[in-house]
Amino acid sequence: MSSSKVLIGVIGGSGLYHLDNLTLVEHVNPETPWGFPSSPIAICSLPSGTRVAFLARHGIGHTFHPSTVPARANIAALKSLGVRVILAFSAVGSLREEISPGSFALPTQIIDRTKGVRPVSFFEGTTIVAHASFGDPFSTKFVKWLEEKVSKALEEEGRGVKLFTDKCIVCMEGPQFSTRVESIMYRQWGGDLINMSVLPEAKLAREAELSYGLVATATDYDAWRPHSETVTAAEVFKTLKANADTSRHVVATILEDLHQAISSGSKESKNLLLQEVGTMQFSIMSRSE
Ligand code: ADE
Repeated sequence: MSSSKVLIGVIGGSGLYHLDNLTLVEHVNPETPWGFPSSPIAICSLPSGTRVAFLARHGIGHTFHPSTVPARANIAALKSLGVRVILAFSAVGSLREEISPGSFALPTQIIDRTKGVRPVSFFEGTTIVAHASFGDPFSTKFVKWLEEKVSKALEEEGRGVKLFTDKCIVCMEGPQFSTRVESIMYRQWGGDLINMSVLPEAKLAREAELSYGLVATATDYDAWRPHSETVTAAEVFKTLKANADTSRHVVATILEDLHQAISSGSKESKNLLLQEVGTMQFSIMSRSE
């Protein structure tokens, strides 16, 4: 089955700046009311001809740190291409012994520890008062779908990478990592993973009525372990490359199935997509800044 519509957007995090096994069709760089995305978006073709969009969240040369990523432009640019589902990747620290560096996880909940410096809504600067549901911050049915597919892809890769499901991710401001006592507190709150990037991305995807799921790739144990060194950037970089290779394998393995699942018009396909009622188009049209 081939389609020229770009329904799937992949967002790569630290270390994941390009995809493999896909044919590059073109780069596009749509300007949105919130500016340009972090990097030009690579439109790639799967073997069937299906097109997907790939965006490097931090820019190709990692030029945006998490607090300055133009998240509204990123989500708006993907939406403008016709994207309905976003599969995002992010390097994370682990707050649990069993989630060792190199493991993958699919979070279902978020604790917001960002500090109010990032624009979090498409409605900021407009006269629209809008509230989006965010009790389940990831698209529940899409994450369920990912559980089976990602786990199969990891098994097939044969490197023994474990997949953890139904986890809670803390999103902190950075750029410094947490103190030991903050890290211990996050564990007590129920946090399993920690990163600096899932917000406001997940909130904006919800406002834009896009299905959104995150594959969290653990690079380090955060600072909570009593007898370990606290996390260093060097430790994070060591695991990044292996995690990026595995992420590329996952993408190459599951995207064809994902495209089929969302474009068939079946009940499953409707379940994987968020209902569109057009709030974001409305916000773009009404933007007053
Ligand atoms: N990203 C990767 N490791 C992290 C950590 N320990 N804390 C916050 N963000 C991270």
